[in-house]
Amino acid sequence: MSSIYSFTSSISSISPLTSPRKSFNYNNKYIPIIHSSLQGTVAPSVAEPLLLNAVRGEDVERPPVWLMRQAGRYMKSYQILCEKHPSFRERSENVDLVVEISLQPWKVFRPDGVILFSDILTPLSGMNIPFDIVKGKGPVIFNPLRTAEDVDQVREFVPEESVPYVGEALTILRKEVENKAAVLGFVGAPFTLASYVVEGGSSKHFTKIKRLAFSQPKILHALLQKFATSMAKYIQYQADNGAQAVQIFDSWATELSPVDFEEFSLPYLKQIVDTVKQSHPTLPLILYASGSGGLLERLALTGVDVVSLDWSVDMAEGRRRLGPDVAVQGNVDPGVLFGSKEFITNRINDVVKKAGRGKHILNLGHGIVVGTPEENVAHFFEVAKGIRY
Ligand code: CP3
Repeated sequence: MSSIYSFTSSISSISPLTSPRKSFNYNNKYIPIIHSSLQGTVAPSVAEPLLLNAVRGEDVERPPVWLMRQAGRYMKSYQILCEKHPSFRERSENVDLVVEISLQPWKVFRPDGVILFSDILTPLSGMNIPFDIVKGKGPVIFNPLRTAEDVDQVREFVPEESVPYVGEALTILRKEVENKAAVLGFVGAPFTLASYVVEGGSSKHFTKIKRLAFSQPKILHALLQKFATSMAKYIQYQADNGAQAVQIFDSWATELSPVDFEEFSLPYLKQIVDTVKQSHPTLPLILYASGSGGLLERLALTGVDVVSLDWSVDMAEGRRRLGPDVAVQGNVDPGVLFGSKEFITNRINDVVKKAGRGKHILNLGHGIVVGTPEENVAHFFEVAKGIRY
């Protein structure tokens, strides 16, 4: 492991636009190979987690790997903990429980990223928007926001006052993980948060937020602006307390047509990225939107460092469309984890090969699905960590 880091390599040779270069020993069958001679100039920093080196375009021996929703329902240990602590709010707002749950997948699978156990909705109560996450029903917003008066009642978020347990948990996680993996924070994007608070919970057709967007856009813009300012602050707070990269989930932005994405999502994402880059220029920001094939190029316009692809986009095409400056994350279909071990191996290999060398974080195209066999998750990590470019 340490020997690979003594090699140096040229960043310029890492081109996502081209197929893997000749010395790239990766082929369709999974064969871990350590390559022998790399020439160039950029030495990876050994002290940094692999995930950060990969995002920054340093030479890495394999893609780092973590899974969205890796902490949670598919794990037996989580289910046991839920019996004792049945309230999601409690599990996600108590420092000890947050740390324990975040570390459950770390202890078993040793991923390269350890995501904080929390929810994109966690800031809402601090913004004067009462909510709960109800078993079998999902998120519930008690008083959905629909009018200008409702939006006026929304307070801007002060993370250190409203969610001190998040900062404390991140600080503990950094100590526990000891830079062997990157500790990841996350926030919800303004449009996706607005969709929950306007719809009142999860939605199928997003009619309420679209009614607001297309008949009283000023009200929605006022709400989106509050979320943008608040989430920029929240990212800064997470970074100041130990998060080494932060993922922005705009899961439902793709419910918008491109022209509406440009009005109701893109400017606020850009504002968040610009604000955070001013105070934390080296903090990697990852952007995820579900079903983002039609919006890929626009996602890159936000200025994020990494675009997380879902499985509706072929990884090679995604790379080509995003260009060499943006790193990619993804994009194995979470359903693949219900397949045979051989099938899982092949799909990992396919994605890694198509992503090419460097600037790739191996992940699923969305969160792990409930019911996924834990042994298949273990297999996913085993194969991923055995890969050598
Ligand atoms: O990735 C991780 O392991 C960290 C934890 C995490 C959770 N939610 C825990 C959780 C993360 C990163 C999220 C993000 C999140 N929450 C998103 C963006 C990601 C995506 O899926 O697109 C969204 C849209 C939410 C809102 C939300 N919270 C939904 C739709 C649900 C599921 C409701 C259901 O029961 O089907 C939740 C609840 C939730 N958040 C659970 C977990 C593990 C499941 C409930 C539970 O364990 O009690």
